[in-house]
Order: sequence, then structure tokens, then C-alpha cells
Amino acid sequence: MGNTMRFENRVVLVTGGANGIGRASVEAFAAEGASVVIADIDAAEGQRLAAGLSSATFVRTDVTKMADAQRAVQTAEDTYGGLDVLFSNAGIALYSLIEDVTEEHYERLMGVNFKGHVWMCKYAIPALRRRGGGAIVCTSSVQALSTQTTVPIYAASKAATLAMTRGLSMDHAHENIRVNAIVPGSVDTPMLRNAAKNRTPDNVEGTIASWGRMHPIGRVICPEDVAKLVLFLCSDDASALTGASYLVDGGLMAKLPVILPDAAGETGEVA
Ligand SMILES: NC(=O)c1ccc[n+]([C@@H]2O[C@H](COP(=O)([O-])OP(=O)(O)OC[C@H]3O[C@@H](n4cnc5c(N)ncnc54)[C@H](O)[C@@H]3O)[C@@H](O)[C@H]2O)c1
Repeated sequence: MGNTMRFENRVVLVTGGANGIGRASVEAFAAEGASVVIADIDAAEGQRLAAGLSSATFVRTDVTKMADAQRAVQTAEDTYGGLDVLFSNAGIALYSLIEDVTEEHYERLMGVNFKGHVWMCKYAIPALRRRGGGAIVCTSSVQALSTQTTVPIYAASKAATLAMTRGLSMDHAHENIRVNAIVPGSVDTPMLRNAAKNRTPDNVEGTIASWGRMHPIGRVICPEDVAKLVLFLCSDDASALTGASYLVDGGLMAKLPVILPDAAGETGEVA
């Protein structure tokens, strides 16, 4: 069976697991034998997803709440006897210039996108230690590295995630707990579709296709593409990898936004 059942007898907790990248990852972990705890605020989708899998449980979790994070980890230990993997992935996108940022906007963005990782890791790490080690993957974004207009707080939340990932990896490497981050480009999820809908309500597909053309691979990334990276990072195949971040961006970060004149003085088209 090769490495197709890398997570047999493993327990995996996925935040933001009801939709998008989290959902694709839940399905991929389950397909490779994991028992999965789906932690999300979206109870309808989370419960529906869990019901269709052979070994999965939904636990309503708002990752901004410390008690909810504790309950999610406790659910993994009570239901399946322990925790081996945390995919800390829940996130939201809000757009604003800094002068229009409200206290609520700031608290929500940093709450879900950064504090959520803090609480989830706070409770997951002792549980991983009780199993003799494990893996954590946190979801960042290309916005942590190179950004656009109207997302200064989102970008900061994603950069903070990278910094904490490195810090946690230092503190816990000696106890066989690996901590890495993923750095996606545009991924075709409800989050991306909402952003496209806000911009062009009548042409969501066209907008997503145009964003896709900005990526050197010529398309936006599929949630399943991201899930493959997450599973690799959480598997024994990645046992030497910790404290690092991994692009899954279709070449976006490798690309200059202009095409400079080549040696013959020719300029190409700007994609
Ligand atoms: N889609 C993209 O283009 C893209 C690019 C880079 C990074 N990301 C990041 O990937 C992660 C997943 O995004 P997605 O595109 O799948 O989004 P999505 O909106 O499709 O799914 C996010 C999930 O998180 C859940 N969620 C929201 N707030 C929560 C909270 N307080 N507690 C628990 N769950 C909560 C939602 O209910 C939803 O199920 C996010 O961290 C996002 O910032 C997305």
C-alpha cells in the first residue's frame, strides 16, 4: 500500500476544518487512515463533513476563545485517546486601510488569524508530548512576505504566524514536536470566492481566472494541492523538517510583477 495510509492510528485536529483548505485536509487525512477532529464555528458544514467520514468528530470551536481551544484538544483525547497532529488553519480575511481599522476589525483579524494559533498550540503541545511527539502546521499566507493594498492587518497576522512557528519549533524540537507553516498563494475556497464576489458580483469565475493568470502556473491553487503539502509536513516523511515555512503558491513569490527588458532590449507582456 506504499505510503497511502500514513496516518493510520493517528489522531489529527484541524481548525477551520469545515470549509476550504481545512476541509480538503480533513478529507485527505481521513483517506490516509486518520481519526479527525474537525474544529470550526460552522457547525452545519462541520457536522455534515464528519458524518460522511468513517472516523471523524465535529467540535464547535471558536479559536479566539481559550476554553474552546482546550475543549477541541480534550475532544481528541477523550474520543480517540490522544493527539498526534494539529493543523491550525482557521483564518479570516478583512480588508481596510489603516485609518478605517476599527477596534472590532483589529480584534477579529488578530483574534482568529494569530491568537487562534496561540490557544490551539498552547493546548495541543502538552497533548502531543503525552504521545511522545507530533507535528503542528500553521497556515500563513503569501501576504506575510509580499503584499497588496488594504490588507495591512491581515498581512501582519500572517507574518506573526511565521514568527511564532519558528519560536515554537525551537522550544519543542527536543521533545519530538515539529512545527512548520504553510504559505499559500490564492486558493479556490469560499474565502477567495467571497473576495471575488465583493469585487465583481457578476463575474466571480472571470475574476478567479484572472487571479489565476497572475500565478506562473496559470491558475489559482486547489485546496487539494495545499492538503498534499500539509499531509507531507505532518507525516514521518518530514521527520527532519521543523521551524520552516513552505510556499504553495504556483510560483507567485518567484515572479517579478514587471517584465524587465531582456538583453536584446525587448520587453515582454506583463501578465
Ligand atoms: N484562500 C486563499 O486564497 C488563502 C490564501 C492564503 C492563506 N489562506 C489562509 O488559509 C486558511 C484557510 O482559509 P480558506 O481559504 O480555506 O478559508 P475559508 O473561509 O474557505 O475557510 C475557513 C474556515 O475557518 C472557519 N473559521 C473562521 N473563523 C473561525 C474561528 N473563529 N474559529 C474556528 N473556525 C473559524 C470558517 O468557518 C471556515 O470553515 C486561512 O488561515 C486563510 O487566511 C487562504
